[in-house]
Amino acid sequence: MRSSKAILRAQGIQKSFKTNDNNHFLVLDHIDLSINKNEIIAIIGKSGSGKSTLLRILSGLSTPSEGTVFWDNKPITGPVNGVSMVFQNFALLPWLTVLQNVMLGLDSIPLSDQERLERSLKAIDDVGMDGFESAYPRELSGGMSQRVGLARALVIDPRVILMDEPFSSLDILTAENLRADLLDMWQKKSKALEAILLVTHNIEEAAYLADRILIFSNNPGQVASEIKVNLTGNRDESNPEFKALVDKIYQHMSQVQRIQKNKGPHSKGTPLNYRLPNSSVSEVLGILEALEVSSTDQTTDLAEFGEEHALDVDDLFAIMEVMEILDFAHIRKGKIQLTQEGVLFSKADIQQQKKLFATQLLSHVELAMFITKSIRHSSNHAIDKTHIMKKLKSFFSKDIAEEIFFTIVEWGRYAEVFAYDADSEQLTLEDLG
Ligand SMILES: Nc1ncnc2c1ncn2[C@@H]1O[C@H](COP(=O)(O)OP(=O)(O)OP(=O)(O)O)[C@@H](O)[C@H]1O
Ligand SMILES: [Mg+2]
Repeated sequence: MRSSKAILRAQGIQKSFKTNDNNHFLVLDHIDLSINKNEIIAIIGKSGSGKSTLLRILSGLSTPSEGTVFWDNKPITGPVNGVSMVFQNFALLPWLTVLQNVMLGLDSIPLSDQERLERSLKAIDDVGMDGFESAYPRELSGGMSQRVGLARALVIDPRVILMDEPFSSLDILTAENLRADLLDMWQKKSKALEAILLVTHNIEEAAYLADRILIFSNNPGQVASEIKVNLTGNRDESNPEFKALVDKIYQHMSQVQRIQKNKGPHSKGTPLNYRLPNSSVSEVLGILEALEVSSTDQTTDLAEFGEEHALDVDDLFAIMEVMEILDFAHIRKGKIQLTQEGVLFSKADIQQQKKLFATQLLSHVELAMFITKSIRHSSNHAIDKTHIMKKLKSFFSKDIAEEIFFTIVEWGRYAEVFAYDADSEQLTLEDLG
């Protein structure tokens, strides 16, 4: 076995979940990563790519289907002492005060009451919540609750903190404030704390905090690329190096976005087991309009575009994925380039747009083809939602299957390809009424 200086190391991690009909849904595959001393790592990736699942495996809360996690080069067999987790919405117990909530973190450690109290007060002080010890969670703002969550993570004197989108439910200014304080705390860190691994959707956040950025691909989740950050000077927009880093992350993310398509004579486009992104037609239309591209030679910088229109990266990449799936655009090296169809679409009137959308949908999305074919072949020219759900549930969990179902229904309705009656839960072809 290779020994390494990594504090926490994942080797050959694979994780799959069972779907309804006993198939396996592969969420993570071939994950090898090390968390080393003195580094903040950011993991950035699409929703559903398995980032939270990975954090749970790294902390020992969940077991991988294959592979091993090593803590100081020893395989772990359960939750690791020395690792703390911070979640997006830290669940503070409403009937306990701030102090009591923080003390809970010490429950599994044998300490005297006095030590328990002292360590908790220190942790509360460290996160800037001195004075709020006797407050109840309902009296706290979102930012303050996150600080208490952080105090609960810090109170055990962890060597590693795993943070799962710790700032994503906060407003922009509060998030900025907390990020700056986290960095400050890290720079003046206690003896114990050696590394932080942070999951984020926010590119600027990764650029601001991380020494190393891992970019996750999805279906299944894998570390697709890595960026080592060597910034001199301020980590803000005033520093051209920072802006270049942000651009680089966008570029890597757009390269990671793999659209898996069938290429056979009988089926083209994304296969039935492709997880369609949960984007609405109106979002796609909005982006196409905003792109203002007049020819296929023109490209638009993804990072600039995202920033200019204040788009959440997750939304931006999901919409771009739809455009790639429908062959309206290609995204390469951080640039958006419309295809001929994309240019046509952006210039068309509403009725023409619907027709173009229908054509692209029926030639690039196997699920849409499957639905129309099933309707045509049924004796009464109607099929039940359950028929489609059954198919989807052989690949995905129920929730995801449901999400995909409603996405394709929306696309199909807009394109006037098929209709869906929510009362009878039946799908029919639009042209058959
Ligand atoms: N216990 C479970 N049983 C079945 N499927 C699960 C389970 N936990 C997670 N999944 C599925 O695994 C996939 C990855 O989920 P995960 O929460 O790790 O993604 P994520 O990258 O953290 O997403 P997000 O950015 O939205 O938080 C999803 O498709 C999810 O539905
Ligand atoms: Mg998550």
